[in-house]
Amino acid sequence: MTGPVLAVDQGTSGTKALVVCPERGVIGSGTAPVRPRHLPGGRVEVAPAELLDSVLTAGRRALAAAGEPVVAVGLANQGETVLAWDPATGAPLTEALVWQDRRAQDVCDRLAPHAGRLARLTGLPLDPYFAAPKMAWIRRELTREGVVTTSDAWLVHRLTGAFVTDAATAGRTQLLDLERTAWSAEALELYGLAGERLPEVVDAAGPVGITTAFGPEVPLTGLLVDQQAALLAQGAIAPGAAKCTYGTGAFLLAQTGDRPVRGDSGLVGCVAWRLAGRTSYCLDGQVYTAASAVRWLADLGVISGADDLDRTGGTVPDSGGVTFVPALAGLAAPWWRSEARGALTGLGLGTTAGHLVRALCEGIAAQLVEVARAAGAELGTPLGPLRVDGGLTRSALLMQTQADLLQRPVEVSALPDVTALGVAALARLGLDPAAGAAEALPGLLPEWRPSAVYEPRITAAEAAERMGAFRAAVAALPDPA
Ligand code: G3P
Repeated sequence: MTGPVLAVDQGTSGTKALVVCPERGVIGSGTAPVRPRHLPGGRVEVAPAELLDSVLTAGRRALAAAGEPVVAVGLANQGETVLAWDPATGAPLTEALVWQDRRAQDVCDRLAPHAGRLARLTGLPLDPYFAAPKMAWIRRELTREGVVTTSDAWLVHRLTGAFVTDAATAGRTQLLDLERTAWSAEALELYGLAGERLPEVVDAAGPVGITTAFGPEVPLTGLLVDQQAALLAQGAIAPGAAKCTYGTGAFLLAQTGDRPVRGDSGLVGCVAWRLAGRTSYCLDGQVYTAASAVRWLADLGVISGADDLDRTGGTVPDSGGVTFVPALAGLAAPWWRSEARGALTGLGLGTTAGHLVRALCEGIAAQLVEVARAAGAELGTPLGPLRVDGGLTRSALLMQTQADLLQRPVEVSALPDVTALGVAALARLGLDPAAGAAEALPGLLPEWRPSAVYEPRITAAEAAERMGAFRAAVAALPDPA
């Protein structure tokens, strides 16, 4: 069916909506902010109503800007953000615990003897980042009432009345059997969540329900977790293709095709998307604090904001011996040190704001190099050029640092908002379930071209030396008391 679709990307710090037309591309866009609260004890919460309002506001703004009706809606979600809610009324019963929230660490500690089994079943390591530890924590500490799900299931219910989640988002819980893409009774039992009413696990494209939230009736036909939606829109369909999105956190995903990989590298093995019952898999590594580390530096007054990275970093030629491990919310893949916190070393009286900015860029980029290396090791071949997107790709300093340390070209997508474009393609695919197979996808994806390509400018030896300094700083992080 022709006609524009509305694609909504509900993210950690805001919602972006696009109206996308097959012939004319993006014909309208809208945004609405979301303000998670950072609380003591590593807690990060957001009011569920704020998530829903942001979806409605951004969607309506995009539609008003386009001035045309749409034939379908697609929705991308944050992945591991969870809440309890009443399935009869749709009313939230708790705040939403954001993916960055660390409060469920003790749930993970209790399950430590089962970590290996859970990883084999689900592809995921034990970490409070994922949804299941937060779901178990909500059940233990907050309420036995209602259902407890990831935020997508609640949003879709509010939009259409359906009770579903897509296979890739379900794969972010540690409750999904990775092979069968069905809820695992064993994982549910281990988490003490047996008997929970869980959403139906659906494909990423197909009719989910009808919504009137944006105006006249329109079907919701595309659903995917945000990082995988970006992977799709970056054209990473063939095994070995990889992308990195630099948002609140930075997330590097590499396609592994129809083969789930649960290696020993410390990466997450997960569902990329399931289409017409066929599952495509990927490897995933995370830097929990990227833009949020930049914001932290701005809050301290070191820089005025992300747009100031290049100006301030450009005042010095290098980091002046400063090393920054920006583990402000723990270290994820491949270390999985939830308790780790950031470390700044090598400070002297001559250290300037420029040195701190360069050290932060190196710290973010170095973590992603470790993830890319681990992905290459799992795939048996180094990753090729890295396609990147997200707000921080506007920093030439960060992108050049990434190319230097990675020793590979870094290609910045010319299209902003690739996540929304990914669910736009799925929404269109989902309009015609008969054609809803992976083969139809390439023709629906936006044409890929870079706005900039950063080639490595330092030697492999220098990159190795700088990576060595970063690794030593990670190794020196103190163990928890
Ligand atoms: O895993 C969490 C991640 O997908 C959130 O992405 O864009 O909301 O920061 P974003």
